[in-house]
Amino acid sequence: MPRQLFVTTALPYANGTFHIGHIMEYIQADIWVRFQRMQGHTVHFVCADDAHGAPIMIAAQKAGKTPQQFVADIAAGRKPYLEGFHIAFDNWHSTDGAENHELAQAIYRSLKANGLISTRTIAQFFDPERGMFLPDRFIKGECPKCGTQDQYGDNCEACGAVYSPTELKNPYSALSGATPVLRDSEHFFFQLSDPRCVAFLEAWTQGSNARGVPHLQPEVYNKIKEWLLPREDGRRDLGDWDISRDAPYFGIEIPDAPGKYFYVWLDAPIGYLASLKNLFVRRAGDAALGAQQFDAFLADPATEQVHFIGKDIITFHTLFWPAMLQFSGRKVPDAVHVHGFLTVNSEKMSKSRGTGLDPLKYLSLGMNPEWLRYYLAAKLSGRNEDIDFNAEDFMARVNSDLIGKFVNIASRSAGFIAKRFEGKLGAITADGQALLAALQAATPGITASYEEREYGKALRDIMLLADKVNAYVDQNKPWELAKQEGQDARLHDVCTVCIEAFRLLSLQLKPVLPALAAQVETFLNVAPFTFVQAQNLLGAGHAINAYQHLMQRVDVKQLEALFEVPEPVVEKILPGGEEIAPVIAIDDFAKIDLRIAQIVNCEAVEGSTKLLRLTLDVGEGRTRNVFSGIASMYKPEDLVGKLTVMVANLAPRKMKFGVSEGMVLAASHADEKAEPGIYVLHPWPGAKPGMRIH
Ligand code: 2FM
Ligand code: ZN
Repeated sequence: MPRQLFVTTALPYANGTFHIGHIMEYIQADIWVRFQRMQGHTVHFVCADDAHGAPIMIAAQKAGKTPQQFVADIAAGRKPYLEGFHIAFDNWHSTDGAENHELAQAIYRSLKANGLISTRTIAQFFDPERGMFLPDRFIKGECPKCGTQDQYGDNCEACGAVYSPTELKNPYSALSGATPVLRDSEHFFFQLSDPRCVAFLEAWTQGSNARGVPHLQPEVYNKIKEWLLPREDGRRDLGDWDISRDAPYFGIEIPDAPGKYFYVWLDAPIGYLASLKNLFVRRAGDAALGAQQFDAFLADPATEQVHFIGKDIITFHTLFWPAMLQFSGRKVPDAVHVHGFLTVNSEKMSKSRGTGLDPLKYLSLGMNPEWLRYYLAAKLSGRNEDIDFNAEDFMARVNSDLIGKFVNIASRSAGFIAKRFEGKLGAITADGQALLAALQAATPGITASYEEREYGKALRDIMLLADKVNAYVDQNKPWELAKQEGQDARLHDVCTVCIEAFRLLSLQLKPVLPALAAQVETFLNVAPFTFVQAQNLLGAGHAINAYQHLMQRVDVKQLEALFEVPEPVVEKILPGGEEIAPVIAIDDFAKIDLRIAQIVNCEAVEGSTKLLRLTLDVGEGRTRNVFSGIASMYKPEDLVGKLTVMVANLAPRKMKFGVSEGMVLAASHADEKAEPGIYVLHPWPGAKPGMRIH
């Protein structure tokens, strides 16, 4: 029976590029999806940018962009990673898309109609300067336990204490530096403590899907049951969930609640559905038809909904999300597959910075993406456990397995088929048949491993088969047969067995190595491999194409370059306190139009102790208004009538006090505290307003 699957990976926050942890998760899911398709099943494989939330709103402000533009710019950079590593999502959407706004509001309305939304007034830190409530990670202060300064609002990095932001000593806003004040606000809660939710979650988290596969891996259930099940005192950790945030917030408005938005984690998983809906609409080419197909697909009991996630977001996906779906009358997940973290050369990954393995650098060095797919797959299992990328192990594994064991089977036999037998396969004698039968007999075990995400096991089994084939080659030595009189038939037989075996191994490896498998399909002159054909052989007389080298070995130089850390900057004590900037070409310098300017007027700026307002003449027949942060050093009357140097082609900049149409050049020490002072440049006599500086 063909299955119909809806598969997702966690939606990445749209405030950074992918790190290797993202790529690992996508590869894990992509292998599973490709495997399902090779079994003849239908899969809708989607992802999206997780666009909302305070950190993204604040990052956009810092970048001088609207949050929409900020998120769009991040989304525009996704493609090279996904294409580069052969990660074939059917759709990439955004949680800020119209579908998600509609779905989130509809789900909320259903939860409310079910009596599962309540409101409560809570006191939270508010930044009076920014006019906004502060998320925990934007509140800093001294740890209430050990007194370490500059700790975040939720836990101390020095002593590990966990607390609430209101317990910090001398708290301050990380955004403005202001002292936050406690302010009341009404919040909306999803009542997970409702007995209906508790009963549902107790059953669902321990339950299995229609295929008899548990919704959760046992180790995952063990983790969340601490939250779910009553403690000795009969109480549960699972409380109601605060799902609202106050404006200003980049998110989805809560219906009938002006100024209130859904907390990003409410609308993020709904983004899975939104991306799927967007896919249906896109494919149908018609909004109404696509929406209808989407509804029908999710209403179909045969549809399997499968989420791949990392271990850091288990509670959201195994408690909040299934309950949201269940109590809004929707399909609940059939499985949530949790993977562990990836360390690189045993180094822990930081969520924002990733690790030393930069995926785009990997690709730009010409390293084969399928080496990484193979290596990660070889380390992955169906369990929630951490894995390590180790550079030496990577090179050894790829070179010995993929080149030494697998590719060599073809490269040692294909040439003889082409040169001696007109590219046609021959008949196979008994020993060859036995070998091929062993490869075919192993296929069901391998497909079972793929299904269970036991990729490491699948690849170990495939390599054991490759070992058998290589033993057969070593016994029969085609290169010697080729030199012996009267051994043509045997040579043809042996090389045919090698090619048939190579086909079976390529087919078995295809979920992991899709591009290599496509090359092999061309070489063997066959339709795309599926597991359905795993019991067939090409057969005598089948003509193959000329063999082209399929894969290079990993070169240690590539790994050295991949992990090369830029030369450490030697701390030199320079008079200016600052290293000289990287070298630029003369053309780069020429882009900056520096002109002699006459300061025709200068005045203080009301409301600013730093700025002076300069009126400058750069010989254009008009004057320019420029703000300059030099009020600490100069009085307006010191400057009027003087010549100076300005950047004349800088884009005008809107400031609090007006538009600044350029920049006056001034010198200062990099560390203002070490050496205060800022000194305006002044040309030698003879220079005239408007002269260009070369
Ligand atoms: O942890 C994260 O990176 C989140 N952006 C994952 C969201 S997954 C889903 F809920 F959208
Ligand atoms: Zn502490």
